[in-house]
Amino acid sequence: MGRLAGRIAIVTGGARGIGASVGRLFVKEGARVLITDVRDELGGTLARELGPNAVYQHLDVGLESDWAAAHDVVRRRFGPPTVLVNNAGIFRTAPIESLSLESYMEIVRTNQIGVFLGMRSCIAPMREAGGGAIVNISSAQGLEGMTNAVAYCASKFAVTGMTKTAGIELAKYRIRVNSVHPGPIATMLVAEAHGTGDIAAATAHDPGVPARRWGQPEDVARLVLYLASEESSYSTGGAFTVDGGLTAGLMYE
Ligand SMILES: NC(=O)c1ccc[n+]([C@@H]2O[C@H](COP(=O)([O-])OP(=O)(O)OC[C@H]3O[C@@H](n4cnc5c(N)ncnc54)[C@H](O)[C@@H]3O)[C@@H](O)[C@H]2O)c1
Repeated sequence: MGRLAGRIAIVTGGARGIGASVGRLFVKEGARVLITDVRDELGGTLARELGPNAVYQHLDVGLESDWAAAHDVVRRRFGPPTVLVNNAGIFRTAPIESLSLESYMEIVRTNQIGVFLGMRSCIAPMREAGGGAIVNISSAQGLEGMTNAVAYCASKFAVTGMTKTAGIELAKYRIRVNSVHPGPIATMLVAEAHGTGDIAAATAHDPGVPARRWGQPEDVARLVLYLASEESSYSTGGAFTVDGGLTAGLMYE
């Protein structure tokens, strides 16, 4: 029996990176998973590779109509979802003084509004199923600031706060809500921010965290698995780091 046997999960931004790693681990641990993303080709390929317990569905997390369609599909294929992983996110950098409102809103739309719509859409089906677990992927930048990342930090701090409020509000329905705060993880998000699109090149340097290495998507997926499973049954409204010690404090040699 897997650690998620019998669970039905929706994973957003599941076509690559951390979300893909979560989808793989969830299926391995016995869950049936709706993998969602806006990268349809990549997401479809992953779902086919994972077999009958994974289905891909296009879902732009900022669109209410896409959430409704995803719920139709997951219900038809598997049943009401009992796990939601709000993982989809975008990262862009610019100094505050030159950041347009349009760019700011683009980040908030995906990273913040997407999490709100996802959580709200899952309350009724999770209540129907008798409970559930929501895992929101925030960031170390949902706990502390970062140069040239005002919109990203705003959106990720919002996720930290929404998680706490939802954890309090939804406890009466046996729905637990926790946030995960990754540090530097070797994914395409980092490679694209680096400008090369090459993960190896973007992560060739020491990331400057106490652990002295880049995190891998699997490091994050294992924490998400714990928070999605009954092993974390007394945790809600919590903020869990997986950051190699980045947010522990200043590091001097
Ligand atoms: N990589 C890191 O260092 C790092 C650190 C802290 C937090 N995070 C967070 O982890 C999450 C996953 O990041 P990743 O590193 O795997 O990045 P990634 O870019 O590899 O994956 C993100 C996925 O989200 C999808 N996506 C983007 N906009 C979307 C939208 N509107 N609707 C649905 N899907 C959308 C992308 O297509 C992509 O497949 C993000 O929320 C990110 O902010 C990453």
